[in-house]
Amino acid sequence: MKLGVMCSGNGSNFENIVRTCNKDEVVLMIHNKRDCGAARRAQKLGITHAWMDHKDEVSMIKAFQAFNVDLIIMAGWMRIVTKTLIEAFPDRIINIHPSLLPKYKGLMAIERAFENRDPVTGVTVHYVTEELDSGAIIDQGKVLIHPDDTIDTLTRRIHLMEYSILPEAIEHVKYKLSSRTHRHLLSHSV
Ligand code: GRF
Repeated sequence: MKLGVMCSGNGSNFENIVRTCNKDEVVLMIHNKRDCGAARRAQKLGITHAWMDHKDEVSMIKAFQAFNVDLIIMAGWMRIVTKTLIEAFPDRIINIHPSLLPKYKGLMAIERAFENRDPVTGVTVHYVTEELDSGAIIDQGKVLIHPDDTIDTLTRRIHLMEYSILPEAIEHVKYKLSSRTHRHLLSHSV
């Protein structure tokens, strides 16, 4: 299975994916901010990476196809993707979001949970659909909000949960995709 990753920022989830996946599994990382942490991490880790304009999804599709990518992971991609990309990789794009969806879709999810004094928030991995943060949920992890938390301490624990949940969700989706391919091959054999 070949994985492609999309990032806009720091890239700590991207680095964690590279470190927890099989060697050579992550074949391409696309970023839409020229000088971002994700690009520097890709350089350090020896992962092929490319800056691309987020509006040019056709070029992104061509790049992922050129690398035979089976599954795309949006790991901190801060843009809404359109039908163009989604239809090129049906059921093959997943996203990580720092809240217990369907609560707090969109930006500032950690801050909103914190400011509302919710006792618990968390992390969701879900399939990407045209509607923002609304596709089928693959996995969720809860994170308690402590009375003495600050945004920083809470964000840190959210990230730790992400580093645990996202690699597991990737394994789950990979398994589903490979068993689907296996069934397809079986049904087409004698
Ligand atoms: C994560 O909190 C993720 O849930 C959100 O963007 C953040 C990316 O962090 N979508 P990093 O770039 O992986 O450090």
